[in-house]
Amino acid sequence: MCGIIGCVGREDTLDTLVHGLSKLEYRGYDSAGVALSEAGDDEADGSAESEGSLDVVKCAGKIDDLRTALEGRETSGPVGVGHTRWSTHGPPTDANAHPHVDCTGQVAVVHNGIIENYQALRDELSTAGHEFRSDTDTEVVPHLVEAGLREGLDMEEAVREAIARLEGSYAIAVVVAGEETVFAARNDSPLVLGVDDDATYLASDVPAFRDFTDRVVYLADGEFARLDAAGWTVTDAAGEVVDKDVETVDWDPEETGKSGYDHFMLKEIHEQPRALRQCLRGRVDELGGAVDIGDLGDLSPTGVQFVAAGTSYHAALYAARLFREAGVPAQAFLASEYATGVPPIGDALVVGVTQSGETADTLSAMREASRRGARTLAVTNTVGSTAAREADHTLYIRAGPEIGVAATKTFASQLAALNLLSLATAESGGRDVVAALRDLPGDVQTLLDDSGAAEVAAEFVDAGAYFFIGRGYHYPVALEGALKMKEITYKHAEGFAAGELKHGPLALVTEDTPVFAVVTGDDELATKTVGNVKEVEARDAPVVAVTDGQSDVERYADHVLELPETHRRAASVLANVQLQLVSYHVANELGRSIDKPRNLAKSVTVE
Ligand code: F6R
Repeated sequence: MCGIIGCVGREDTLDTLVHGLSKLEYRGYDSAGVALSEAGDDEADGSAESEGSLDVVKCAGKIDDLRTALEGRETSGPVGVGHTRWSTHGPPTDANAHPHVDCTGQVAVVHNGIIENYQALRDELSTAGHEFRSDTDTEVVPHLVEAGLREGLDMEEAVREAIARLEGSYAIAVVVAGEETVFAARNDSPLVLGVDDDATYLASDVPAFRDFTDRVVYLADGEFARLDAAGWTVTDAAGEVVDKDVETVDWDPEETGKSGYDHFMLKEIHEQPRALRQCLRGRVDELGGAVDIGDLGDLSPTGVQFVAAGTSYHAALYAARLFREAGVPAQAFLASEYATGVPPIGDALVVGVTQSGETADTLSAMREASRRGARTLAVTNTVGSTAAREADHTLYIRAGPEIGVAATKTFASQLAALNLLSLATAESGGRDVVAALRDLPGDVQTLLDDSGAAEVAAEFVDAGAYFFIGRGYHYPVALEGALKMKEITYKHAEGFAAGELKHGPLALVTEDTPVFAVVTGDDELATKTVGNVKEVEARDAPVVAVTDGQSDVERYADHVLELPETHRRAASVLANVQLQLVSYHVANELGRSIDKPRNLAKSVTVE
């Protein structure tokens, strides 16, 4: 989704902004722009008032298009903001790209989120003579600030008054010609400061400035930030200074580079052993089989509702099964549907599973649960995220930064963390699971070292559609396999509970539709899934068995993707890695934009 960068105090402001925007590309965007403000000469030497200048350059397209648009322009200024836009109001055009300016071109604004009452504000401002140049909701903001400045308010007062008029979600940053200040505000959309001795940064996500500082200050809803030559201040809606903690991010900037891989997605698939080790470190006693997730271990829920979206929803489906297996009633809900009919909560624990911690649908479901008195827990990858700050409890999955839009290592880490949650709060014993978790990083590495997925992908790159089937813990993996395939190859893919095939989807199965069947172990579930594989094989569909070789599924399969033998819960993680690789290689053969698939955003901050 949209990305914001701002900085004050550097000599190379423009380069810093463009660098920051390139680091936010992973969020998904369709246009980009920058605005730089500079005090007038007279004011700069302190002798007199001066209007100063404001340079705005923006365009539809990629950061490289913005670089081209900037070539030869004398864009300068010690203070600036930049933006990557992911269209919501109006198509991706130069005019709709941010920053947006007021009638005079003296106020520039970048914004993430949605201003719900923008139409009423726009009508009011148009009647008052303001001229609009874009279709966006954002453009009302510079005009509101302009109106305040005309009334004689100073920049901060004018921005505060403008913000007070807005309904909806926003992270907003404002620069005004002649002011060497960035003023920013947040409500329901992430905003974080990066602080250094001689410069201050502002961004929607840490990677935007992580190359310059590791010290961060997370803004909360309703807070304002002022960045100027003196440093930074955070205030509340009443203007009172808020005492903020400066935190240190513990990941290396190198982690946000490709490290020699062609794509972030492939790098992140290969990072799974490390991500899993980080997730498990210090939390499992490998000898005794005990699990320690700190105070969370005392939660002892009598019922659990998971809320999540997309890949995280698949992790939630898996997690609900974990708790049900432990005898605790548990259900997974699509976060976007949760609020449409919230089920009775009682004293259930409501768990938001969200790698970014910023998904609007998931936040909204968690808030609804809180309003109804439920205890909430965020299972997230992102320290300081909204979900982490708003939930009563947080369990970090510790996967490290994930840049590829398609979630890969965070899914594996979610499954591991959710196993820990269930072991610590609901299950007794579980030595076999702990042992499987302990071995999981090594097992994933074994699989990655000798996968076979690239050959299978090459075989089926022209397939008409791809189907994925699994039972039990492997059913969410079938759904996830299909989602990954859709996202990055743009081809039709569906995941089914293996037993459901014969209730309709079998009609779609032909010799042109490979079916990926996840079958592990040799228990009843495996036997039944092998039965479903036979149904597929009888219809001449190519079968790819993703298996540990314990059942006889290989007899009915055209190809086999091997898994190390392990507990079935861990086998789901392993099977998913094979399916991630198949999708990656199909997409690569097709020349797709793997790290930034069309129309998609990494962090979906609108409902
Ligand atoms: C798929 C994907 C999305 C996210 C979904 C929720 O690869 O990345 O489906 O899983 O948008 O995101 P989070 O986990 O950040 O809440």
